[in-house]
Amino acid sequence: MNSDAVSARYSGTAKFLHWLIVGLLIAQYIFGWTMPHIGRTVPVSTLIDLHVSVGILIMFVAVVRLVVRATHGEPVPEDGLPPWQLQWDRVNHWLLYAFLFIVPVLGWMNASWRDMQVSFLGLFELPKLLATRARGWGWTGDVHALLANYVLLGLIGLHVVAALYHYFIRGDRVLQRMLPGTR
Ligand code: HEM
Ligand code: HEM
Repeated sequence: MNSDAVSARYSGTAKFLHWLIVGLLIAQYIFGWTMPHIGRTVPVSTLIDLHVSVGILIMFVAVVRLVVRATHGEPVPEDGLPPWQLQWDRVNHWLLYAFLFIVPVLGWMNASWRDMQVSFLGLFELPKLLATRARGWGWTGDVHALLANYVLLGLIGLHVVAALYHYFIRGDRVLQRMLPGTR
């Protein structure tokens, strides 16, 4: 980590990327839950195309975020936080980062398995990760949906509850660290 690691607040870039991912995920869950069920023959559907394109964008922004995180580190923790809270936040944050890759990559694998085009708004296409209907890989869709609907959403829920706990119950400034224009 370089000297920025001891900064007392998140950079504007880190905050922007954090809230961009929040916005993209809201759109992504809406598309995921409202698009037609993807069966053996996939009908052409704008919602499915949008689900794939926004998923690709989330993976890309998550990579940029990790690069920013790796080069800038995290700001020094708020004063006076109990060690268990610091540990918990750290574990939760790294799990969130991990599932921001695991979930879309499984979606991408399943789309390849189903022989769907994995294209970003029709501008470019990502390579196939699995051969069409490759034996033994059909589970990728179920696990993608399961992890998105329960694990990622559960982690986000805990993260939001933690942020609200800091703001309303502990009355510290942890939430403000991630809000635009505050410190
Ligand atoms: C963080 C990013 C993503 C999230 C949160 C997400 C979320 C979801 C959700 C909620 C569903 C519906 C599950 C249900 O039926 O209840 C779903 C289904 C699906 N998604 Fe994603 N998705 C993401 C990225 C992607 C990407 C990048 C692709 C493809 C390149 C993709 C392909 C699919 C496919 C093929 C299905 C249908 C799976 C099946 O029913 O077998 N997803 N996704
Ligand atoms: C309304 C929703 C959300 C709120 C209020 C919120 C709030 C916050 C706050 C206050 C922090 C800073 C914590 C600290 O200073 O220690 C933070 C960091 C973080 N948030 Fe969120 N968040 C939300 C949604 C999300 C979502 C949807 C994700 C990703 C799936 C996410 C991923 C992260 C990560 C990875 C960090 C750690 C940043 C780092 O140190 O690299 N957050 N969030």
